[in-house]
Formats: sequence, C-alpha cells, structure tokens
Amino acid sequence: MSFNLESVKVSGKEMMPILEGGKGVGVSTGLTSGEWAKAGGIGTVSAVNASRLDEDGKIIPVEYKGRNRNERFRELVQFGIEGGLTQLRQAHDIANGNGRLHVNVLWEMGGAQEILHGILKEAKGIVNGITCGAGMPFKLAEIASQYGVYYYPIVSSGRAFRALWLRSYRKAPDFLGAVVYEDPWLAGGHNGLSNTERFDHPEDPYPRVKELRATMNKFGLENTPIIMAGGVWYLRDWTDWMNNPEIGPLVFQFGTRPLLTQESPVRDSWGDTLLGLKEGDVALNPFSPTGFYSSAVRNTFLDELYARTERQISFTDHHEAADDHTESFKFGPRNREVFLTAHGKESAEKWMAQGFTKALVTPDSTFVFVAEEKAAEIRKDQLDCMGCLSQCKFSNWADNEKGTTGRKADPRSYCIQKTLLNSAYGEAPEHNLMFSGHAAYKFAQDPFYNDGFIPTVKQLVERIATGD
Ligand SMILES: Cc1cc2nc3c(=O)[nH]c(=O)nc-3n(C[C@H](O)[C@H](O)[C@H](O)COP(=O)(O)O)c2cc1C
Ligand code: SF4
Repeated sequence: MSFNLESVKVSGKEMMPILEGGKGVGVSTGLTSGEWAKAGGIGTVSAVNASRLDEDGKIIPVEYKGRNRNERFRELVQFGIEGGLTQLRQAHDIANGNGRLHVNVLWEMGGAQEILHGILKEAKGIVNGITCGAGMPFKLAEIASQYGVYYYPIVSSGRAFRALWLRSYRKAPDFLGAVVYEDPWLAGGHNGLSNTERFDHPEDPYPRVKELRATMNKFGLENTPIIMAGGVWYLRDWTDWMNNPEIGPLVFQFGTRPLLTQESPVRDSWGDTLLGLKEGDVALNPFSPTGFYSSAVRNTFLDELYARTERQISFTDHHEAADDHTESFKFGPRNREVFLTAHGKESAEKWMAQGFTKALVTPDSTFVFVAEEKAAEIRKDQLDCMGCLSQCKFSNWADNEKGTTGRKADPRSYCIQKTLLNSAYGEAPEHNLMFSGHAAYKFAQDPFYNDGFIPTVKQLVERIATGD
C-alpha cells in the first residue's frame, strides 16, 4: 500500500482504512458501496429509504397508496426493507468477497429498528457491519449482536460514547467494530451538535478525538479503531493523526468526496454545482425536521428557508398592558385576533405588500410570512406525510401511539423525505436539499478534477490511498 497507509482491522478483517460513509436518500447505493469494497475499502449501503430496483436495475419509483399517515408509514417500512436488501445484494455481488460492506440507518428515521431487523434477517453473510447515528442508538449493540454483525455508532464527542457504552454497549463489547467520530462542524448531512456547542464556534477535531480515544481506552478499547469523518479530503493532511498513540488505530470516512464518481447517482445532477463551489458555500443550518443541525449546499432551497425564517415576528394572544405587543392583527380563515409589537406590525404590512400574504403560526408563538403558493405547498407536504422520521417537527408526526409529537407543526422546516427523494432522482437540484460537507469547495481546487474529470470509485480509492 502506498503512502504508508497502515491497514486496520475492521469488521474482523485487515483492511485499507478508507471508507465511504452511508448517504441517504439513495446516494450511497449498492453500486457505489460494492465498488468501494471491490477496490479494497469499506462500502456503506444507505438503508434510509433505499430504492428498490427492477430487473433492468432501474429504480422503481415509490408510490404511496395508504390513505393516512399510519398506512403510508407501514408501506414506507416495507419499501425500506425491500430496498435495503436489494441494494445490499447488489453491493455484495459487485464486491465479490473483497473489502467490507456496512449498512447505514439513521436512528431517528421512522421504523429504523423494524427496517434493520427486516434487512438483517435476510442478509446473513452479506453485511459485515451497521453504522448508525442521528440520535443515541442505545439498542444498536443488542440488534447487531443478535445477528452476529459488528456495530459502528456515530458520535461527535467522547461524552456521547461514554453514555452509550455505560448504558448499553459494554454488554456487547465483542461486536463493537469501531467508533465513528463525525465532526459536527464539517461533515455533510445531519450533525451531532450538543446543546452546549455553538454552530458558529467550530472546534478543532484533534483534542475531541484524543478525548474520545482516552474514554475508549478507559473501557479497554485500545484496539478498537476510531473512524474519522468530516472534512477529510487529502490523507496527507492527516499524517499527524496516523500511528499516533493519542489517536490509536484510525480509519478515514469520506462522505463528500465520493459524491463525484462515475458510479454516483448524483454525478450528473449535482456535478456542475459541486465542481463550482467556493469556501463558505455549504451552510450548517437549523431547518431539518429532525431537529438536528445539518450541512448542505447554500442553494435556492436553503436560501428560501433562511428568508422564510427572517420574515418572522412574535405575537401574543392577549393584549396585556405591561407588554409591548399592543397592535391588533387578524389572520386565518376565522380572522383570529392576536397582538404584535409596533415594529412587528410594520414588518407584517411590508411583507404582505411584497406578496407574502400568508401568516403561518410556529410552535414558538411567532408568525412566518409566505406567499400563497408556498403556504399551499407546506400544507400539502404536511398532509402527504408518510412518517419517515420517528419525530418530525415540520408535520408534527411521531412514531408513537398517538401519531403526533404533541407540538404544533413548524412551517420554518420542510419535508426532508420529499426533497431528498427529488434530489436523488435528479429533479432540479438547485431547488432541493443537497447535503454536503464543508470541504466540498475542494472539488474546484483539487487538480484531480481538472477539466471536469470524474473518477470511477476505483480511481478515487487509489488516488486517496496515495495521500492526494
Ligand atoms: C449527501 C450526504 C448524505 C448523507 N447521509 C447520511 C446518512 O443518511 N446517514 C449518515 O449516517 N450519514 C450521512 N451522511 C454523512 C456521511 O456518511 C459522512 O459521515 C460525512 O459526509 C463525512 O464528512 P464529509 O462530508 O466531510 O466527507 C451524509 C453525507 C452526505 C454528503
Ligand atoms: S413530513 Fe416529511 S419529513 Fe416529516 S415525517 Fe413526514 S415524510 Fe418525513
């Protein structure tokens, strides 16, 4: 192996320590993961709404027939199991015994555990590990050991791993494959910022990973690798981390860089945008219906969400003398009366004159002002919900007996299911969510991509292994 990249034992096998992270919806597929494993690395099939394929390998479009959220949710789980299995089998065929294959789910996706069980029951000998983040997957160890596969929790601090270990993972230590550290300020997709961390105060990953290693060592996990994810591009930038006892055995996870390969399903639809990004064009933003921060390309889709949130004012239900909400304002079909501040009233009138005539109530006793068509779109998306998350702040759906979070639906958010499917199927990427890590601007700087060159997965893995 070139560049002195030492092999590391992952999922029971000595491996080149290069991994493609799971990417939903439909971005890390059977094809990309299979090729990644075939090239000697570790591929991760996304089982987040994984697509089913027809006999010619073409995606079968999802069509929900259920009449209510619960019925559509049942369909979603069934499609998720079938799609996950289809993609894993394809990956397995392509990998042909090389590398390692993992499957990724988001703990907070609707039906996560049921989908995992459904897939693992049928995927014996095909899948080597499960990676799982977005939430605290306490049950992950139990599920993985039940099927004899390794598990890979994704955390953003030593503290989070400590909680997982003490409450659950210490009971199944043998199947803990590695711990993924995902940099919450740099990685694409959902980010695990805790309540005490600020989105606009990025922290150096080195001390954080050093602390994670110290925590792991305390639990006797000196030989368990850490998988570093978030902002990894050239491995030559990470030589201080390699063969370093403060960090221990190390694997590198790539999410953004493999978005542009010949096999990537978003190669054509996202290609031009990715190749033209500048530093700062990816935004860590608060709009995801999961409630987590997430990182995505600042395109018209995100711009509209920022603008919507800026057109926001507070209201109170009752006019109280001590309060500065003194201005009467009537809204909605029943002309409900609430009170705004004088400045709020002025803003409301200005936005309405600009065509943002609909005042939508948020769970924080504020209004956001949107155009009539946007209000109709938001309403429709909320009604079409099929419960893709365990809790959704946009529609207030929750995967519980009552089917609701008990909070008001939040019009400052969006239906992630709809936009990610649109995005994955190549529909107007500018107007849909494009998850991406903050290092994506390197596509435009890295000479590897000169003249629009797009490598195969094999070429990319070989290139990464050289340090470049
Ligand atoms: C388009 C996209 C989708 C992603 N989807 C998921 C996902 O479904 N589950 C997950 O655990 N991580 C997801 N991630 C995170 C990646 O697996 C990976 O950890 C991350 O992108 C690494 O950082 P980088 O973007 O700086 O390379 C996603 C990342 C991207 C760019
Ligand atoms: S509204 Fe959309 S994002 Fe929210 S749970 Fe329903 S399908 Fe998922």
